[in-house]
Amino acid sequence: MNERRTRQASAFVLASALGLWLSAPLRADDAAATFKAKCAACHGADATGNTSVGKSLHIRDLTSADVQKQSDAELTAMITSGKGAMPAYKDKLTADQIKGMVAYIRTLAKK
Ligand code: HEC
Repeated sequence: MNERRTRQASAFVLASALGLWLSAPLRADDAAATFKAKCAACHGADATGNTSVGKSLHIRDLTSADVQKQSDAELTAMITSGKGAMPAYKDKLTADQIKGMVAYIRTLAKK
């Protein structure tokens, strides 16, 4: 009886470990989810700033050349420390997550 429980427990631990390992290639999706959860309210789900908040704050379209021409360091600094109505995320996101946000914004560049 007890042995069976132990075996079930270790199967569970193994399955969770496998789940973590398998989720690594899905990081890009995590960034998209983080953007939707934390940024979309102002920047819009498509990052163009086409929201009422975005319009009233005059947020620039993150997919536009004007935003994309900035360096990764500039975008990282903006997200980390904020500016004006843009909140600072240094206490809310890890450095890795902020890096993920910059990478995500790069994927949105207008071609
Ligand atoms: C409360 C509304 C709000 C939220 C939430 C928000 N932003 Fe912003 N964001 C702004 C505003 C306003 C600006 C323009 C700041 C300025 O230039 O004065 C801005 C600017 C930016 C810029 C620079 C754009 C440019 O014009 O160069 C980036 C990049 C950015 N935000 C990314 C993010 C990311 C990533 C998140 C989520 C982790 C986020 N923002 C969440 C309001 C917001």
